[in-house]
Amino acid sequence: MTSSASSFTTLISWLSLLLCFVEKCPTAASTTRFYDFKVRSLRITKLCNSKDIVTINGMFPGPVVYAQEDDTVIVRVSNLSPYNATIHWHGVRQRLSCWFDGPSYITQCPIQAGDTFTYNFTLVQQKGTLFWHAHISWLRATVHGAIVVHPKSGVPYPFIFPYQEHVIILGEYWLRDIPRLEQAVLASGGPPPPADAFTINGHPGPNYNCSTNDVYDVVAVPGKTYLLRLINAALNMEVFFAIADHKFTIVEADAEYTKPFTTDHVMIGPGQTLGVLVTADQPIGTYSMSMGPYMSARNVLFQNTTAIAYFRYLGALPSSLALPASLPSFNNNLAVKTVMDGLRSLNPAVDVPKQIDADLFVTIGLNVNLCHSRTPQQNCRGPNGGVFAASMNNISFIKPKISLLEAYYRRISGYYTEDFPGLPLEFYDFVNGAPNNSPNDTQSLVGTRTKVVEYGTRVQLIFQDTGTVTTENHPMHLHGYSFYVVGYGIGNYDPKTANFNLVDPPYMNTIGVPVGGWAAIRFVADNPGVWFMHCHLDIHLSWGLGVVFIVKDGKGELESLPHPPADLPRC
Ligand code: C2O
Repeated sequence: MTSSASSFTTLISWLSLLLCFVEKCPTAASTTRFYDFKVRSLRITKLCNSKDIVTINGMFPGPVVYAQEDDTVIVRVSNLSPYNATIHWHGVRQRLSCWFDGPSYITQCPIQAGDTFTYNFTLVQQKGTLFWHAHISWLRATVHGAIVVHPKSGVPYPFIFPYQEHVIILGEYWLRDIPRLEQAVLASGGPPPPADAFTINGHPGPNYNCSTNDVYDVVAVPGKTYLLRLINAALNMEVFFAIADHKFTIVEADAEYTKPFTTDHVMIGPGQTLGVLVTADQPIGTYSMSMGPYMSARNVLFQNTTAIAYFRYLGALPSSLALPASLPSFNNNLAVKTVMDGLRSLNPAVDVPKQIDADLFVTIGLNVNLCHSRTPQQNCRGPNGGVFAASMNNISFIKPKISLLEAYYRRISGYYTEDFPGLPLEFYDFVNGAPNNSPNDTQSLVGTRTKVVEYGTRVQLIFQDTGTVTTENHPMHLHGYSFYVVGYGIGNYDPKTANFNLVDPPYMNTIGVPVGGWAAIRFVADNPGVWFMHCHLDIHLSWGLGVVFIVKDGKGELESLPHPPADLPRC
């Protein structure tokens, strides 16, 4: 560039800066953020025990991915571990970038030991708290981290500017070897073991053995307001979270702003994120931030201790004097409902579909199937000598051997069918009964069935919990989209009495369907690709509580899925 040209550009940029003072600053152009993820083992000592865990870059939880709205994020994932790996960008809508979504055998084959795959996606009109996690076997237990997307430069939050922000990741920790745990549980046919501890940002806190010094703490300046970005990355547990003597205000759920809602506790299911504001407005002291179980199913063993972190005021006495937080009891369904009732979109939801093209009704729940093993003592540890399964419309999803997206894109037949039913195979009292009123009929069918929809289909989907084995709150997650939660209730869904909110429903990617109840979601299927929808309790996913949506290309510009990247892993 000649010097006169360069001084001309300088002049222009000075002029625009000047304009920025007199008027509103032009919103900054989006940028590209690069991250290098190395999947590798790390030896850690926790709960009096030393073991290897799989991590990203030797961090637990893993590194935070920071970006701004509309930025492009490029993450090179090199697998230096002996296990197959993939990373899913949970809640990223992956507009025209389904190849980079990450669920193993759905949108890609795993990245094998020694291999590399580079994810590349844009955060189109997305800002707030999300997270990334491994999406293969149960590796997610230790392979996860936050995604924090700030508004564009110069764009304020629609709430008081926090003095500081903290990522708070809630997790479950096992002393067992995670990569082998899923296999072992599936081979047993029985339930999974409870975790050995809950953790807050990887720390169990003083309620667990050898952990009095293994406590996460947030230092609070009296009078200041903090934004806590809560993420539930636990494998199999929904949890309550509360801070002693402090109320907090929910301002964001699943990376969408909500009307401010003040509460003294939240329930957060695996896959959900919440942004909450808390003000250090109490006497100087140390206050517990507690995470405890929400278990709505019957006859399940679970970790019934609380993980504790500290919200410690500057100038407070030593942390041993922390005030305890009071959490709702583990089976307090009402405490869940009050938080859910408080979640409303900040702005009127003008784009919630009013007309529906595909009206789906899908039961979700557990099953017990017949045992076919010759060694039932080892392999049939489910109820009555059967094996546990889980299903949607009574079909247990079987993971294919290759990536479904590739099979669909390259028209390779034989790996899936297109006959997922839009209605249950049988109608009965879903919550209280079993098909044909025969209490022994608890079985599911198996298959890799998909639901194919045309581009632009306006979808309504009612999730209906079943009591075939036990009713339970299921955190249902959809890839590739956010959806409006337009209604929910207790019991069997009845269109005559169901109340719908089409004014300001929350826009989410994971919804905890009430135990023994239903929830209705709506979205427009305008992102072509192959999208997984499943329960975010990993044990239920392993048992088959999932289905795949295939959204066809549209006819217009920017309505078709681009070609796959050259480095896409092979199976
Ligand atoms: Cu965070 Cu398929 O999930």
